[in-house]
Amino acid sequence: MLMVNSVREEITRKLGRVLGEMSPAGTVIALNGELGAGKTVFARGVAEGLKVNEVVSSPSYVLMNIYRGRLELYHFDFYRLENEEELDELGLDEYFYGEGISLVEWAGKFPGVMPPTRLEIDIVKDPRDLDNSRVLYFKQIGKQNGFLFEELNKVASPGN
Ligand SMILES: Nc1ncnc2c1ncn2[C@@H]1O[C@H](COP(=O)(O)OP(=O)(O)OP(=O)(O)O)[C@@H](O)[C@H]1O
Ligand SMILES: [Mg+2]
Repeated sequence: MLMVNSVREEITRKLGRVLGEMSPAGTVIALNGELGAGKTVFARGVAEGLKVNEVVSSPSYVLMNIYRGRLELYHFDFYRLENEEELDELGLDEYFYGEGISLVEWAGKFPGVMPPTRLEIDIVKDPRDLDNSRVLYFKQIGKQNGFLFEELNKVASPGN
């Protein structure tokens, strides 16, 4: 597990950018954290790292958006989803096991649909909500990539 402090939006975005730059095809990112934690900010960074030119918005209402970059980005948001069956017609696995990068906001709502190999990220807000600080916890499930963690660590180090 890797823990990284983000003291402002730009750091969270940069962490996402590193992932977007480094992630191979088929990477699945499961993002969790309360409302306003910074999941969509992180997703924008991933898109940037993938050289997506479009503006990334929250997919809350449409469940999913596809963006074209170095690899395709499949951006999901389970927030409004009430049951797993609503995902049936979407054919999630085609995306999760496809050639793009999948990123799922609120993935923890339906853990059963997530693939066994994924990167879990929890974004935790300061409980007193006094400032812009967040703590990001990265956990690689089913596969390890120490190099990725090294690169993520650099983002939050002094001088960056
Ligand atoms: N360190 C930080 N990292 C990320 N966002 C930050 C940070 N500090 C402040 N913010 C602010 O927090 C908000 C995060 O919003 P964002 O839409 O990314 O949250 P979210 O987790 O996607 O919420 P939702 O569950 O509603 O989709 C933005 O307004 C952003 O400017
Ligand atoms: Mg969001």
